[in-house]
Amino acid sequence: MSRLLLLNGPNINLLGKRETDVYGEFTLQTIEAELTELAQAHGGELDCFQSNHEGELIDRLHQANESGYDGIIFNPAAYTHTSIALRDAIAAINSPVIEVHISNVHKREAFRHQSMLASVCYGQIVGFGKQSYRLAAQAFLEK
Ligand code: DQA
Repeated sequence: MSRLLLLNGPNINLLGKRETDVYGEFTLQTIEAELTELAQAHGGELDCFQSNHEGELIDRLHQANESGYDGIIFNPAAYTHTSIALRDAIAAINSPVIEVHISNVHKREAFRHQSMLASVCYGQIVGFGKQSYRLAAQAFLEK
C-alpha cells in the first residue's frame, strides 16, 4: 500500500479566489478530495498539509521522513524560487518528493524559471493545472 503526503506551500489555501486567470477556479479542498479518492482507488492513502510558513513545511518534511511516506507531492509555491532551507530538507530525507506547479512557471516571469528544489526532487510536473497534482500522484501510485 502506498502512503502519500500532499504538501502545499504559501497562498495555495487561496486557490479558487487567487488570480483565477492563472490558477483556475478550483479550490485546495477539491484537490485534496480528488487525490484522496485517487489514492484510495489504488489501495493507498493520502495525508494533506498546507502552510504559509517555511519552517512548518520543513517540520512536516522531517515528520514525513520519520513516518516513512512512499512519496510526497509538494507544491512549494513561491518558496520554490527562494528556499535553500526547503531544498536542504528535501535533500535530508529519504521519501521521494515530486515538485508540482499548477501554472507553467517557465512561461511566466523570469524569477519563476529557477527552482531551488528541482535538483533534489525525484521529479517535477508543471503547467497542467489541477492535473499536475493528479499526474504526480499517479507517478507514485503506479510506480
Ligand atoms: C505555483 C507557481 C509559483 O511561482 C507561485 O509562487 C505559486 C504557485 C504554481 O503552482 O503554479 O504560488 O507554485
